[in-house]
Amino acid sequence: MKIGIVGCGLIGARRARVARAAGDEILLVADINAGAAQVIAAEAGSEWTDDWRVVTGHPQIEMVVVATVNKALLPITVASLQNGKHVLCEKPLGRNGVEALVMVQTATRHHRILKAGFNHRHHPAIWRAQELAKSGKIGPLASIRAAYGHGGRPGYDQEWRGNADLAGGGELLDQGVHLVDLCRWFFGEFVQVTGMLGTWFWRIAPLEDNCFALLRTAAGQIAAIHTSWTQWKNLFRFEIFGRDGYLSINGLGGSYGTETLTLGIRRPESGPPLTESWEFPGPDISWQAEWEEFKAAIQEGRQPLGNGDDGYQAARVIDAIYQSAKTGGVVELGAGLT
Ligand SMILES: NC(=O)c1ccc[n+]([C@@H]2O[C@H](COP(=O)([O-])OP(=O)(O)OC[C@H]3O[C@@H](n4cnc5c(N)ncnc54)[C@H](O)[C@@H]3O)[C@@H](O)[C@H]2O)c1
Repeated sequence: MKIGIVGCGLIGARRARVARAAGDEILLVADINAGAAQVIAAEAGSEWTDDWRVVTGHPQIEMVVVATVNKALLPITVASLQNGKHVLCEKPLGRNGVEALVMVQTATRHHRILKAGFNHRHHPAIWRAQELAKSGKIGPLASIRAAYGHGGRPGYDQEWRGNADLAGGGELLDQGVHLVDLCRWFFGEFVQVTGMLGTWFWRIAPLEDNCFALLRTAAGQIAAIHTSWTQWKNLFRFEIFGRDGYLSINGLGGSYGTETLTLGIRRPESGPPLTESWEFPGPDISWQAEWEEFKAAIQEGRQPLGNGDDGYQAARVIDAIYQSAKTGGVVELGAGLT
């Protein structure tokens, strides 16, 4: 496919490498920081610009990757869709549910495919856990306990993630959106939400560096999530409990430790469960897998895994957690607007 990339920071550069490895042609990249755009352009053999409108209006570009600060995701995604491009918009899908909804409705109106950057669904341990859960291996699903975090880096509070206008939210929106998306992937929609926030280390108020939240489905399943920028040793842990056993995912590779999955089956007579474990060492393949699945969806004219609506639904849950933290109450979630 012919690709345009807007936002040439860490993730834009990663998406560019993945696109090239998949045989796609990057025609043009944009960043308000011309130097950043030039670096990717040199690697990709593409043109570069410091004006994103040149990308969204480029007649030959079929798909735009939007990987800017969160505030710029909405206008760039909307302009791309209006100009007939498919869009991979990085997570979160805008700064809140309203922005996500505008993107989803624009995609629908212009018959283009919008995908949210939910690469975590494509981590092999998470993918395998989803297959096992779906096959009924641990029985009806009851609860999830999930934690995700890192400890930032010197000056983290001065970066755009610490700026309420540019980011739209703190650590809940940043890494927490992946946990919310994964919880929805296993359980479906949540109808009740409650949460509490803390800003304990980083000077980012009114944003949070920690969030604890409980999410409940109509069937009574509960997910407990904790996201943290004071997790001094990087951590990803995602546990799913069912009537007959559990699935436990630890690590995401790299600084998060080797990705592992353990399946435990409860013994009716009690005692230690029967367990089976898998390790997924090696490089992070989630980005490639996500890219291939999105391209297949475009070619087949279907919705991709982790589509715009998934981005919108995750944003609504996060809005509700923020509301709960503010009011101190439980927030009921309706059906949404799409
Ligand atoms: N899928 C994931 O797991 C994952 C991981 C990290 C970040 N992200 C998301 O990717 C996006 C980018 O994050 P990052 O870590 O690459 O940040 P980054 O700071 O490394 O890069 C952002 C880039 O966007 C550029 N930019 C800002 N406003 C722009 C505009 N109006 N037009 C063009 N360029 C603009 C900046 O100059 C910068 O180069 C964010 O939305 C973030 O939430 C996703």
